[in-house]
Amino acid sequence: MKAIVIGNGGREHAIAFSLAQSDNIHNIYCVPGNSGTAQVPKCQNVEIGIQDFGAIEALALDHTVDLIIVGPEAPLAAGITDYLQSKGLKVFGPTQAGAQLEASKAWAKELMQAANIPTAQSQTFQQAKEAKAYVCAKGIPIVVKADGLAAGKGVVVAQTLEEALAAVDACFEGRFGDAGQKVVIEEFLTGQEASVLAVTDGQTIRPLIPAQDHKPIGEGDSGANTGGMGAYAPTPVVSDALLQQIQTQILEPILAALRQHDIDYRGIVYAGLIITAAGDPKVIEFNCRFGDPETQVVLPLLDMPLDALVMACVEQRLSGLPPIPWKSAAAACVVMASGGYPDAYQKGHPITGIAEAEKSGAIVFHAGTQLKENQVVTDGGRVLGVTGLGETFEEAIANAYQAVKYIQFQDAYYRRDIGYRVIEKHKT
Ligand code: AMP
Ligand code: GLY
Repeated sequence: MKAIVIGNGGREHAIAFSLAQSDNIHNIYCVPGNSGTAQVPKCQNVEIGIQDFGAIEALALDHTVDLIIVGPEAPLAAGITDYLQSKGLKVFGPTQAGAQLEASKAWAKELMQAANIPTAQSQTFQQAKEAKAYVCAKGIPIVVKADGLAAGKGVVVAQTLEEALAAVDACFEGRFGDAGQKVVIEEFLTGQEASVLAVTDGQTIRPLIPAQDHKPIGEGDSGANTGGMGAYAPTPVVSDALLQQIQTQILEPILAALRQHDIDYRGIVYAGLIITAAGDPKVIEFNCRFGDPETQVVLPLLDMPLDALVMACVEQRLSGLPPIPWKSAAAACVVMASGGYPDAYQKGHPITGIAEAEKSGAIVFHAGTQLKENQVVTDGGRVLGVTGLGETFEEAIANAYQAVKYIQFQDAYYRRDIGYRVIEKHKT
């Protein structure tokens, strides 16, 4: 089998890494990939833009590609699946209509409300004046969200009224372009966050093992939000019973709601959840793709060929698959970032020690890297995701940090407390 993986982050490196382990897979084309995917066996990078659907189609047809996996949300929201499907190609990832689950928070909220899915109470506005009146009536803390895709920057958890009102203004003044034409204002929820990624073929939906990520830049989960500074799985915060509750109260109803809209959704439904103090899951967002860095801890624990799982979704035969098998191990990923991230940072610093880190048993996923004259250099905010595996979280986390020690680049920054919530929990 031949596959195309679209995207160039740590998530796509993890997808390619996982696919490459399958005997069924002979060739993987990463579009455009990064210096990590370039080193994956059976894998080659192809310099095509992720929004260049025609060139991706030509690549797929020239090489008789059997399967296309789309990593990021932007091409999904732009209709890559509709386009490639219309050319007879098999795509893992929802159509444009399905991708609205992530691309329009207002639409996702409507769907959730209609399907009685537990989520933060909210209202959607198209005028600043009314939005502000609602904010003032509700009081703080309150959450202000730009409706559309804003690269993770469209959400403000406001602790003061000024912050909330400024966030409303920022949206309507065009800070997020079209994404801010509508604003969702939402009740502030407290509790631990968890990411449950589920696979669906449009008829059946099944959760993968639950993960948690650390979004804030600073230790103790402080400071600005990032794309994610680390992750671990399977998180004990989501017990088997809770996962079952998530399946019946969230995953099955959202699939049913999509079907009611005649959406044939084949791909990942990512439920970002808050587990309330009472132990109930509430949805804070849906994404229409694999999570990053969650994928770097979930896929290394998958105990079946990824292509078999994904093809079952694409060919709508997920219900016929036995339960998804998982390794009985834990995984933890520490993200190494460029100093300054998530604000301004420099690029182009040489990275050393990756081979030594890999020799120690860790998997080093590349996120923002580039190969320059045979030297891997930094090329993004999140540079590497270093995943350790172990029998316990303590072991997995220790293995990840052991490997991180070998890796050096100028101004490297990483959190030293990835997984602290689960380790503390284990200790008590
Ligand atoms: P989102 O892009 O919707 O995942 O939001 C980014 C982050 O904002 C989440 O990971 C949460 O930490 C926080 N957040 C979003 N919605 C809420 C909410 N209703 N209550 C509390 N925190 C939230
Ligand atoms: N880790 C958060 C995300 O993928 O959106």
